[in-house]
Amino acid sequence: MEKVVIFDTTLRDGEQAPGFSMNINEKIMVAKQLAKLGVDVIEAGFPAASPGDFESVRAVAENVKGPIIAGLCRANRKDIEIGAEAVRAAERRRIHTFIATSEIHMKYKLKMSEEEVLERAVDAVKFARNFTDDVEFSAEDATRSDLDFLCKVIEKVIDAGATTINIPDTVGYAIPSEFKEKISYIMNKVPNIDKVIVSVHCHNDLGLAVANSLAAIEAGARQVECTINGIGERAGNAALEEIVMALRTRKDFFGLTTSINTSEIYRTSQLVSHITGVYVQPNKAIVGKNAFAHEAGIHQHGVLENPLTYEIMTPESVGFPSSRIVFGKHSGRHALKKKLEALGFTDVTEDQLNRIFERVKRLADRKKEVFDDDIFVIAQEEILAIPFKTFELEYVHTVSGNKLLPTATVRLRRGEEIYQDSAIGDGPVDAAYKAIDRITQTPGKLVSYQLRAITQGKDAIGEVTVRVSFNGTVVTGKGSSVDVIEASVKAYINAVNRYFYRKQLESQGIELKITET
Ligand code: KIV
Ligand code: ZN
Repeated sequence: MEKVVIFDTTLRDGEQAPGFSMNINEKIMVAKQLAKLGVDVIEAGFPAASPGDFESVRAVAENVKGPIIAGLCRANRKDIEIGAEAVRAAERRRIHTFIATSEIHMKYKLKMSEEEVLERAVDAVKFARNFTDDVEFSAEDATRSDLDFLCKVIEKVIDAGATTINIPDTVGYAIPSEFKEKISYIMNKVPNIDKVIVSVHCHNDLGLAVANSLAAIEAGARQVECTINGIGERAGNAALEEIVMALRTRKDFFGLTTSINTSEIYRTSQLVSHITGVYVQPNKAIVGKNAFAHEAGIHQHGVLENPLTYEIMTPESVGFPSSRIVFGKHSGRHALKKKLEALGFTDVTEDQLNRIFERVKRLADRKKEVFDDDIFVIAQEEILAIPFKTFELEYVHTVSGNKLLPTATVRLRRGEEIYQDSAIGDGPVDAAYKAIDRITQTPGKLVSYQLRAITQGKDAIGEVTVRVSFNGTVVTGKGSSVDVIEASVKAYINAVNRYFYRKQLESQGIELKITET
């Protein structure tokens, strides 16, 4: 059966969306999970965008085996040189170069004529071929481009050596039947199109990204660019899990296959959600927590008699777990190590294991049942956190009530030094944040605050995600605890530390891309 190449751009188009940024450790972990999921290509970033981006792409290229590692580059030689260096260590590497072909982009953004764009595209592809024989070319805003000009560019870049041609619906403007026609037109009109794989890259502004991708597949596209949970700029990109499960569930219709190990889908979705702190909507297809829940009595009856009455795919096929209790007071280090491996934490050091073990044990004392997700958030804090902790929480005490002035006392450690201060606020969390601001002398403005229960029950771990603006730079912080005040304070301190980490890198001349705003 013919195969559709799955090109994952979670770490590039997904990560570049506001509020989705990941640190380098987190990106490596996601990339390793994508390899386990079986994606064919991982677009690891946009190396010329910033030194931070370059380092992340290089780290993924060095550490992740299996998929092709791609780096995105504008159609200029400098970007391509930087991109080529970033992916050099990969087992298999791809340079993905792009330039816009629509009239509106050429006129207002590039300020270039059709001839200049064509020349740049051809030069970029030829230059990229000096570094690898796997070169992808994207015609940005292809769906709003003049179709005959688009065909001409495609023909010339294939002659120049491109091996994959990507047709992006950059602004999510296409309609499925129209997009299918456009792809068919390109397939028929471009004389050398049979020498390449035709790819599509659809944005979701009209909620049609997956539908458009599938329509393009019907017309002969054999690569789709997509992200886990559909994350990405604005309304996001086409969701990988939806495309893959549509192809699998409707094999009778498409007659195509992918290399995705679908039982890893749910785990990958959760990993991306945990790491970014952006939660999956409950009714999201394939990976939402209600995706397989049957509430209506008539449905439940049917499903019990025969699951096929209302289920077109099984929860097991996407690795949907029934939340299991995994850890008790008497479980040992060995069991924990195995569990961490199953959760994707494969390179845990002895020291990290000990710290996680102590925390999980303490949790097991406070909470009756410890779930996979509880262990995940603890491991995430211990393993994936930035390697730089300016401040650590020693102690927090809050007083509040409906007839009291909320007050907080916070004690923080920085190296050997201890700092303590108190403040009043609009509530206990606000008071604690003000006390921290007094200690750090770096006041933050809370942009957003999100609290969610990681697992079920009144004693569930609460995970808090905050976005805080320090001197105009917005950073994300996360913290977890069974005590929501403590989780809130930890999240704020995490944001403070990330801000100081950023400042430290900047003082070394390493500027992180401002993706956290
Ligand atoms: O949306 C888009 O056009 C892109 C290209 C750079 C592929 O992300
Ligand atoms: Zn895009």
